[in-house]
Parts: sequence; C-alpha cells; structure tokens
Amino acid sequence: MTGIHLELAEVAARAAVCTSCALATTRTHVVFADGSPDADLMFVGEAPGSNEDLQGVPFVGAAGKLLDKLLGEIGIQRHEVYIANVLKCRPPGNRDPLPGEIEACQDFLRAQLTLVDPRVVVTLGNFATKLLLKRDVGITRLRGQAYPWWRRHLVPTFHPAAALRGGDRVLDEMRQDFALVASLLRTPPAADAATAGDVAKAHDAEHLGLFG
Ligand code: URA
Repeated sequence: MTGIHLELAEVAARAAVCTSCALATTRTHVVFADGSPDADLMFVGEAPGSNEDLQGVPFVGAAGKLLDKLLGEIGIQRHEVYIANVLKCRPPGNRDPLPGEIEACQDFLRAQLTLVDPRVVVTLGNFATKLLLKRDVGITRLRGQAYPWWRRHLVPTFHPAAALRGGDRVLDEMRQDFALVASLLRTPPAADAATAGDVAKAHDAEHLGLFG
C-alpha cells in the first residue's frame, strides 16, 4: 500500500469504531467509502440508506444503480471513482442528517478529500453541496456549472434519489452535469484553471479548513 492508501485505511479504521454521535448506537455498519483512492473524480453523497447500512458500502441501492448508470453513460466505471458520504452512519428511517451529526462526522470527509485529492468533486444533493460550497442556495439553482474549490472543480448536482422521484427533467439535468464532469476530466491538469495559483498555500489552508 502507498502512503495515501495506508492513511486512508487508518482513517477508515478510526471511523469503524467511531462513537462521536448517537448514530453509532443504531448503525449496522459504518459506511466509509467505495472505489479508488487514486481517482480523479470523487462523489460526495448524503448518508447511507438501509442497503448501505447492511452492506457497509455506499450507493448500493436504487440510487447507487442510477449513479452507476450515469457514470457508464460518460464512459466511467464505478471502480474508477471514489465515493463517500457526508455521514458515515445511517440516520434511522433515512431522516435528514442533523447539524450535530454533520459536525461530528466532517473530519472523516475532510481527510478523504485531502488524501484522495481528486481533480473534480461532485456533490450529490443539498447536504453535501451546502457543506462543501458553503452557499445557502438550493441545488436546483447551484447545479449546471462547475465552481472553483480548493484547486479543484466542484460540480453540484441532484441526489440520484431525487432523479428517481423527480423523473425525466431531473434525470436530464443530471446527465448535463455528468457531461460537464466528463469535459472537466478531459481537460489536461496543466491547462486547468482550478490548479493555477499557489498550490502549497492552498494545501496549508486546506488542512486547516477545507469546508469550515
Ligand atoms: N444515498 C446517499 O446519499 N448515500 C448512499 O450511500 C446511499 C444513498
């Protein structure tokens, strides 16, 4: 294992025994991540659902199948990306994450973003988008473009569960967002505006504050 793989394994081991919030008492498994730590593309979802809680793997239910399909349409397979959630444990009944739970869990996501160091981050839905982009605007208005974010591109899009509920319009807009992701990944890193500037300085700031 390389340094990054080892460090991520250490963070995952800490998460596996985490008792920082009450979700530790109701979870079956801690759901840390899936995919490649070397990925250029990282997805951040909201929180595990019941299938994920049972299997210990993010996005394995119906929303995950749709995510796999949308990825396939831009020629990317699931094992080539890194997938994580804002919360690592399932909120009972799939209720919304509570502010205290997000706070208690955010160091894990911060470590994942820092260690994986993807070129493009896709936030799925309002919770991930608000946490990372720090904008108090809903996903419907924010989606459709890439935002510069800590030397990277951040592309907010709908949560796949919203597309399952919302039908063709939501799905079409997600397809547009995935096409944007594909074009960002095709852009060579050197020509990439988000990588310009003082990388070392950004790194220092990142370790201190990434998203808050
Ligand atoms: N929804 C999420 O936000 N994350 C998962 O892992 C599954 C469903």
